[in-house]
Amino acid sequence: MNTEGLFRPFSLKSLNIKNRIVMAPMTRSFSPNGIPTANVAAYYRKRAEGEAGLILSEGTVINRVSSSNDANIPHFYGTEALAGWKNVIDEVHQAGGSMGPQIWHMGVMDNHRSGWLPAEPFEGPSGLNRPGFNNGKTMTESDIADTIAAFGQAAADAKSLGFDCVEIHGAHGYLIDQFFWEGTNERTDLYGGKTLPERSRFAIEVIKEVRKRVGDDFAVIIRLSQWKPAAYTYQLAKTPQEMEAWLNPLADAGVDIFHCSQRRFWEPEFEGSDLNFAGWAKKISGKATITVGSVGLNGEFLAAFAGESSQPSSLDELMRRMDRGDFDLVAVGRPLLSDPFWPKKIHEGRTDELKGFTKEALAELVLR
Ligand SMILES: Cc1cc2nc3c(=O)[nH]c(=O)nc-3n(C[C@H](O)[C@H](O)[C@H](O)COP(=O)(O)O)c2cc1C
Repeated sequence: MNTEGLFRPFSLKSLNIKNRIVMAPMTRSFSPNGIPTANVAAYYRKRAEGEAGLILSEGTVINRVSSSNDANIPHFYGTEALAGWKNVIDEVHQAGGSMGPQIWHMGVMDNHRSGWLPAEPFEGPSGLNRPGFNNGKTMTESDIADTIAAFGQAAADAKSLGFDCVEIHGAHGYLIDQFFWEGTNERTDLYGGKTLPERSRFAIEVIKEVRKRVGDDFAVIIRLSQWKPAAYTYQLAKTPQEMEAWLNPLADAGVDIFHCSQRRFWEPEFEGSDLNFAGWAKKISGKATITVGSVGLNGEFLAAFAGESSQPSSLDELMRRMDRGDFDLVAVGRPLLSDPFWPKKIHEGRTDELKGFTKEALAELVLR
């Protein structure tokens, strides 16, 4: 297996990374009252030492009262939380890594199993988390304007703390995706509509605000998914033409990199071609893309939450697509939870030392 293609440097605006391996954003809930601790900094530092080229933080929520459903998910606002993040980026830089926070608003959520609730109701385009399940309020235009401003502020803070880029979480059924999906966006104002381009207005305004606040030279990533937790096989864009009408306005608004979330990277996006989501996004937009989904493992991540373990698997198919130029970067999630040194082991050909993934790795911030 020739993995040289994974170990070429990559530069784009403020991003200068030593290889093509990205640590995927993974919620860990180890930040009591939203403050990332020294342990969280040590956890990310370890992944930089293990040679992840770019680290994307776990989702970290913007300054809206109900942007989170969990008290242990980090905030990206407030003096103490931002000081915690400053410590994180300094540690990662000292270890030779690069990093961007994934800025997040969850939108309308299920109540967390802990029983914790934000001080105000969840908010979203129509109060819906999925069709038929209302667990929050419908955002007013002024809620929307304040939320857009809060995304912009988080991005500006990411830049001033010294992060190398920022990722907007637009995937997986959370707030921005709730606007994209007709199943959760029943609005009849400017933020709703029958077509995906109409329902993209909120995302476009978020991206424009982020771009305005960070300037032209700071790399802006958006994470998107066709699938939602409530609908694994759903496609927001059902054809390449619909994907073009979705992605190109986002690119025009200021996106540099599309992070294309799939559960299994090898699955083709549309019939008649083996290109995956990242492959199509690159072909359509001309922008850099990140692929993700069961790289180096034989089982996917949602099954892992249910307790299914995964074993290491070959990178041949990944390299075939990468060497063909389908995507620029490769995000890896679970392998980096169980083993901070996954990239280094791949680099050095130590494949016999690769570990599988079991959900026990979720119980701690593995530093070994
Ligand atoms: C524990 C865990 C937490 C996750 N949290 C997030 C998150 O905060 N934001 C996000 O966009 N994706 C999140 N994901 C999805 C991952 O970023 C990634 O897309 C998924 O795990 C597939 O990659 P993998 O097969 O390499 O694990 C999470 C996944 C795991 C396993």
